[in-house]
Parts: sequence; C-alpha cells; structure tokens
Amino acid sequence: MNLDDCHNFEDFRKLAKKKLPSPIFHYIDGGSDDEKTLKRNTSSFNDCDLIPSVLKGVGKPDLSTTIFGRKINLPLFLSPAAMQRLYDPEGDKASARAAEKFGTMYSMSTMANTSIEEIANISSGPKLFQLYIHKDKSITDDLVDRCKRANFDGLCLTVDTIVAGNRERDHRSGFTTPPKLTLESLISFAKKPKWVFNYLTNKRFEMANVKHKTDKGTNITKSVIQYINEQYDPGMNWKDAEYVVKRWNGPFALKGIMSVQDAKRAVDIGCTAILLSNHGGRQLDGATSPFDQIKEISDAVGDKVEIILDGGVRRGTHVIKAIAAGAKACSFGKAFLFSLSAGGQKGVEKLLKNIRDEIERDMMLMGCKSLSDLNRTK
Ligand code: LAC
Repeated sequence: MNLDDCHNFEDFRKLAKKKLPSPIFHYIDGGSDDEKTLKRNTSSFNDCDLIPSVLKGVGKPDLSTTIFGRKINLPLFLSPAAMQRLYDPEGDKASARAAEKFGTMYSMSTMANTSIEEIANISSGPKLFQLYIHKDKSITDDLVDRCKRANFDGLCLTVDTIVAGNRERDHRSGFTTPPKLTLESLISFAKKPKWVFNYLTNKRFEMANVKHKTDKGTNITKSVIQYINEQYDPGMNWKDAEYVVKRWNGPFALKGIMSVQDAKRAVDIGCTAILLSNHGGRQLDGATSPFDQIKEISDAVGDKVEIILDGGVRRGTHVIKAIAAGAKACSFGKAFLFSLSAGGQKGVEKLLKNIRDEIERDMMLMGCKSLSDLNRTK
C-alpha cells in the first residue's frame, strides 16, 4: 500500500498505522473515555441529507472563502495539532508547505516541535497560531508577541483543555513526550525500525516554542496527560481570554466553543471567529458534536463572527453540509495527521488534492457555483 492507494480517510489511516509505532498511532486515533464523542463527530453528518439542484450551468465552482483576514482557496484547513515531528521528520514544516501549496491555512500548536520563527521563514501562506494559557503567564505574552513579529494571521485560544481528557489508549500504551522506550512500548517501536531510524537521525525532538521556559516535554519526559495537567492553568476564565484578545489585537478565535451562550460571550469580548470544537473527541466524552450545534450557534452569532467547524470532517460532503448550516470554513486534524504520517508533505498534498476534488465535485452535483449558494434548503 502506498499514497496512490489512498482515496479516503480510512486509506490514509491504514497506511499511517503501518508506519507508526503503535503508541503514536493511538495517540492520534484515540479519544477520551468510551470515545462516544469521537464517533459522534463524524456520524452526526449522516443525520443531514443534501438536496441537489440541476441544470444550473455551474461549470467550475469557486471554493474560496476568507477567514482570519486571509483568502483561502478551499473552505477547509489544517487544525492545530501537537508534536508533528512524531509523524514525519519535517513535521510542521511539511504541513505548512503542503497547506501553502493548496492555498489554505496551516495552524501551529503551542506544543509544536518547530518554532514560530522557523515556520514564518519557510511559508508566506495563511497561518494560525493555537495558544494554551500556562500557569506561568509570561509564556502567554512571549508567544503572542512572537506571533505578531512573525506575521501570523490569526490566533486561537483553546478553551476546552483546562484538564486533560481521560485518554485510555495513552494510559495503556505508555505514550510520552518525548517518546520513551519502556518495557511495554519496546516491541511496538522495534516493529517500526524505519520510524526509529528517522526519529533518531533527524533534528532533536523538542517543544520548540516553550523550551526556553520549561524543560518538560523536551528534557523531562511526561505523558501528554501529565504535561497538560502540570502546565496549563485550570482556572482560566473570560478575563484571561479578553486579555489575550487585547494583547493580540488582530483576528482572534476561541477554540472549543460549543454553546450559544459561550458563542455570544466570545463575540462580546471581541473574537472575530469561533472554532466549534470538542477537541476531536479527546476531552469531554459525551459532549455534543460541532455539527449538532452549528445551526443554533450560527442563528445566534453567524452574522457577527466567522464560524469554523472543527471535528469529524472526513468527506467533501461534510464540508458542504457544515457550510450550508452556517460555517464559513471547516478544519480537520486526524485526517491530515494520518496523511502526514503516511507520506510527509506529499501525503498531506495528496489528502488536500483528494478533498479539494471531492468538494469541487460535490458542489457541481449540488448545483452550486460558490459557497454562498449553499443554504439550509439544499
Ligand atoms: C491533544 C492536545 C495536546 O489533543 O491538543 O493531545
């Protein structure tokens, strides 16, 4: 099996599984508790059907939209995701380059292994930075100010992770940052010698954006659950969010909004966008899905903020349904991390090509020339 055989999410997932040591594969693939929310994120799209229109003289549809002040060529971008160096030696650089090639947005996690400045040097494409608020508040100012200097387009603050979700696959596999050989994980690493070779012979694994502030995750090995619980501020509140909005003073989103009430409050503190997200089903299991919430939230604040749906997106039709319901764009995490693991930059490019072609074909079959033609009656 190789990239040419990857036609959909499941194909990329299979190829990634072949290449990655199992603790790393399960870190991407898993959710929290019973993984109900993880499954619901995708299955909720099945509760909605599309009604096509015909003979509309569609031709080639325009898939472009604008988010965080930048035009993107397709209404789907790469969600922020931690530690991409685990999936490919080039990590975030591979993702950023692939996104730029397709004219879409790349997002960087606070927990990236590549620095803000390195990415700014290699990409002039649209860039979003994802922020966690640490107990050490000086880290917030440092990250926000560096993103400003590096000309990132937007900033999003993750608000659904004040404590780590119960990711039982990680407990079982002993997954840590940096990855550590333990008795349990020895066999799974030994089975993927190519990954081990790449890991050991490329740039050192580090928490590139915060290593000057903390040794954890770089020189001190931690599970991701410990990392989150030790570093991030569990008392984060609306005042903290407002502080970041003001300091950043540019296109800004809260990531992890799921209720109308919180969406309205996000508008009140000056957000220009919200990411409807439950962190890919990795935090509160039993939480509703972004697609289940989108209509109500878009009716309440859709004319005041850009709504981005993050969660469960695997198909062009998922993107089309989200936009018809009120989203300006979607983002996806698991799908692109599997493609990065399956084939590095080329893998992400293959995924983006597949899904762009899908969205384009689906728009034609729907009888829509541009994204604004999509609405709840079709
Ligand atoms: C996760 C965090 C780190 O979901 O974003 O693993």
